[in-house]
Amino acid sequence: MTPSEIRKELLDQHAGLRTKIEATRVAAERWSGGQQAREELRSCLATLADGVRAHNRREEELLRDLIPSADAWGPARAEVMQETHVQEHKDLYEALIDAGAAPDATSGVPPVLKLLDQMAEHMKREESSFLGADVLRDDAVTPDFFGG
Ligand SMILES: [Fe+2]
Ligand SMILES: [Fe+2]
Repeated sequence: MTPSEIRKELLDQHAGLRTKIEATRVAAERWSGGQQAREELRSCLATLADGVRAHNRREEELLRDLIPSADAWGPARAEVMQETHVQEHKDLYEALIDAGAAPDATSGVPPVLKLLDQMAEHMKREESSFLGADVLRDDAVTPDFFGG
């Protein structure tokens, strides 16, 4: 895959996740507004968790080989970034799995909204760092693994 193909795939997945995040936010706000939306919220959280898991796996797989080669990333920095990035994926996914367990909206909704903000923030940071068009360029020095 070329860097621009990788970038496109990951950005498309981000767009899909943003749609799921918004659906989850709507359900959380309905529940918080006194509507019977707990099951709807749980189902949104489950769908979101599936999407997040698939995206995280793919992103980790594609970035593992890619980032050390991109101009903007020294290998040492990439290593640290990879480790903290994978840990953040794990934390966000685990929080998503637990998020639907609260018994009432008063205790359940604020942590869900906070988590959705954290996920949106995670993607925004990625898009302004390693998913930038200036980092994933097809005209950068092309290592072997782009050849296949
Ligand atoms: Fe990520
Ligand atoms: Fe991502």
